[in-house]
Amino acid sequence: SADELDERIRAAKAALGDRVVVLGHFYQREEVIRHADYVGDSYQLANAALEHPQTEAIVFCGVHFMAETADMLSRPEQAVILPNLAAGCSMADMADIDQVEEAWEQLAEVYGDMDTPDADGLVPVIPVTYMNSSAAIKGFVGRHGGIVCTSSNARTVLEWAFARGRRVLFFPDQHLGRNTAKAMGIPLEQMPMWNPRKPLGGSTEGELDDARVILWHGFCSVHRRFTVDQVDQARAEHPGVRVIVHPECPMDVVDAADESGSTDYIRRAIEGTTEPTTFAIGTEVNLVQRLAADNPQHTVFCLDPVVCPCSTMYRIHPGYLAWVLEGLVDGEVRNRIAVAQDVADPARVALERMLAAKP
Ligand code: 13P
Ligand code: SF4
Repeated sequence: SADELDERIRAAKAALGDRVVVLGHFYQREEVIRHADYVGDSYQLANAALEHPQTEAIVFCGVHFMAETADMLSRPEQAVILPNLAAGCSMADMADIDQVEEAWEQLAEVYGDMDTPDADGLVPVIPVTYMNSSAAIKGFVGRHGGIVCTSSNARTVLEWAFARGRRVLFFPDQHLGRNTAKAMGIPLEQMPMWNPRKPLGGSTEGELDDARVILWHGFCSVHRRFTVDQVDQARAEHPGVRVIVHPECPMDVVDAADESGSTDYIRRAIEGTTEPTTFAIGTEVNLVQRLAADNPQHTVFCLDPVVCPCSTMYRIHPGYLAWVLEGLVDGEVRNRIAVAQDVADPARVALERMLAAKP
């Protein structure tokens, strides 16, 4: 039963003490989050992995790319554990390393030598990957002078990239790329979308010449569901409502909202408001429900009336958490995520550039 599982997790954690730290992403279900030592957005959890060098193991309640990142940032002796290995991210899977390598080669045919800076000291293209990507992609980015971003620092990272290159190739999330570039004043005409099924991305060479941000065709299937109609309906039904959405939402939804930001931005916006307020939120429903429960002074609801959990985040069932923790008690490391060194070394370079790129 749920209570038994809860008790098993508590007992295993008590037995392990400081030997383990449990990290939980905001989208995790309540039955998991209550056992997390640190809860955060993907940027904060990457830092949390870095900041616990004394533990033997880091149990990551989140998705695969987050656990890979934690492995690359933690000490080699520390085991990073993903309670269910099937917890992936469909958006991260939309940028495959072979496709990215091929896109890069095709762009080199258009732009020439990708490594040599022009008279202004700028290379033709800087690759930028969203944290929601495989370690292999982060490694590619690290080897080609690029950088990682999260939803909380995308603008700072794009500014870093434009200080070094004429253009950015941004993957996998077209929406985060488009929303961030638009907020920086880059016109939509200068954001062609890469289409791997057509040679040269299906973009004319003129389009690619003027391009500032070349977008990848990826998206998040959870955030893609939010619509402008939902925003309009929330405003009609709740006069004075504050609409806040995650930047993985489509551009028209971000434009219709009052604000957009990372999961932690959304949390701070609600918790930092003293006047009782109604918030309509465009992000994963487990976070929205927790924010509603934790902030009874406000009315907080999800823009999408049909419950929309992230199905892969949901694969971290408390039963798996109990199973990996009990394994550690018995001296057995279960479900370890270990990135091969030849991938991890360049990927870490791209991650460290992000950690150093303060606004
Ligand atoms: P955050 O970095 O805002 O936590 O987002 C991670 C994510 O997967 C959003 O879908
Ligand atoms: Fe991936 Fe979307 Fe789930 Fe975030 S919410 S982990 S982007 S599928």
